[in-house]
Amino acid sequence: MDALTALLLLVHLIPVSVAKNGVSSKSRKRIMPDPVTEPPGMDPLYEALLYCNIPSVAERSMEGHAPHHFKLVSVHVFIRHGDRYPLYVIPKTKRPEIDCTLVANRKPYHPKLEAFVSHMSKGSGASFESPLHSLPLFPNHPLCEMGELTQTGVVQHLQNGQLLRDIYLKKHQLLPSDWSPDQLYLETTGKSRTLQSGLALLYGFLPDFDWKKVYFRHQPSALFCSGSCYCPMRNHYLEKEQRRQYLLRLKNGQLERAYGEMAKVVDIPTKQLRAANPIDSLLCHFCHNLSFPCTGNGCIDMEHFKAIKTHQMEDERERREKKLYLGYALLGAHPILNQTVGRMLRAAEGRSEEVFALYSAHDVTLSPVLSALGLTEARFPRFAARLIFELWQDRDEPREHAVRVLYNGVDVTFHTSFCQDHRRRWPKPMCPLDNLVRFVRRDMLVALGSGSTNYYDACHRKGF
Ligand SMILES: *[C@@H]1O[C@H](CO)[C@@H](O)[C@H](O)[C@H]1NC(C)=O
Ligand SMILES: *[C@@H]1O[C@H](CO)[C@@H](O)[C@H](O)[C@H]1NC(C)=O
Repeated sequence: MDALTALLLLVHLIPVSVAKNGVSSKSRKRIMPDPVTEPPGMDPLYEALLYCNIPSVAERSMEGHAPHHFKLVSVHVFIRHGDRYPLYVIPKTKRPEIDCTLVANRKPYHPKLEAFVSHMSKGSGASFESPLHSLPLFPNHPLCEMGELTQTGVVQHLQNGQLLRDIYLKKHQLLPSDWSPDQLYLETTGKSRTLQSGLALLYGFLPDFDWKKVYFRHQPSALFCSGSCYCPMRNHYLEKEQRRQYLLRLKNGQLERAYGEMAKVVDIPTKQLRAANPIDSLLCHFCHNLSFPCTGNGCIDMEHFKAIKTHQMEDERERREKKLYLGYALLGAHPILNQTVGRMLRAAEGRSEEVFALYSAHDVTLSPVLSALGLTEARFPRFAARLIFELWQDRDEPREHAVRVLYNGVDVTFHTSFCQDHRRRWPKPMCPLDNLVRFVRRDMLVALGSGSTNYYDACHRKGF
């Protein structure tokens, strides 16, 4: 067994050994790191492992935690799709052999896997807005297609759904057993992996749901900006951010060397290799415990992988310090946050529609939302990441509504920029809804520094 296999073995055994025999409290903590109190680690392999999000039984989660006199009013869930096959191939290498069919005798497994497949087989096009109805409802290729959701990805979201079911339905009765179609709001981008991830979560949440009662809307934009996508300033910030990325890359000699060596292995120009975004494919090898590709000239190895991953971490650190991405994020996240706030305000008025909203999305959806909320220490969205907004009503003061924000099960409410120093001033373990409303409708746009207080002006005026 070579060093790579031994390391992967070790790395893959971490969640299992923690679940079985506890190890030390330090390593137990590292399995579900607190994205806020624990500074982003500096170990590229540990970070890569978190990104894979390999399903294990040990999950700590703070969703649904509230004092007894609080009533859960609505829940808004943003997910990243689960584990997927790469979107890019490394030229001149064999692509990873991963089977995307769903079978019981392969790990990871979920007890609802077969029932999920059978339920999906009964689905009809009527439950999906065009063009979603043309997509397969579960992954099914013996050699995965590019970008296809894997069994790991399905299991991750069945688990998410079941966790939310236990908390929101069994414990807090968010929906009655005879829930009506308009109590759900479901939206996904047009990729099979997001649709299938949304369906797996929904199935875990509402097993054997009535197909006639669900309707998935199609969202053409990864920013979920629907009618408000035109925003020149957002593109301006994005271009500056990309320029920053480029300059940082040029400064990294170790990264350049790694690319040079890898390019020799696959015998193509470095530029062409870079364009093939090899880290995407290498992460797939890593998450699936497959050795990295080799050619007659040698192998891509763990040191190459570490060099790229380390650079990604440095890039994220610099991104936080310079404000260009924040500018992009504030404008990019505004429409979806505005929509969510609108939905919360309607629920707070006592309307019973859309009390459970699910947006099935991408890293490029969640990442700007996290930045816009000021969750700067939050890790880059891993596979099957979940960001949740909970709306609560205080039964003792029925006119008062409050929100909680959770990222991968961790309560980050008091780390958001709209509620950062509220914990001291308010006796409740959550944040007044008004804070979020004020932030979304005004303060997040004011933060851009252009003097604009509304989205359309902010999209056209230069800020910081
Ligand atoms: C990883 O792969 C090696 C063979 O390459 C195998 O021996 C080992 O059991 C695998 N580890 C896990 C956790 O699947
Ligand atoms: C924000 O939401 C309100 C409804 O809650 C809507 O009228 C308004 O057009 C939205 N603004 C943007 C920029 O999406």
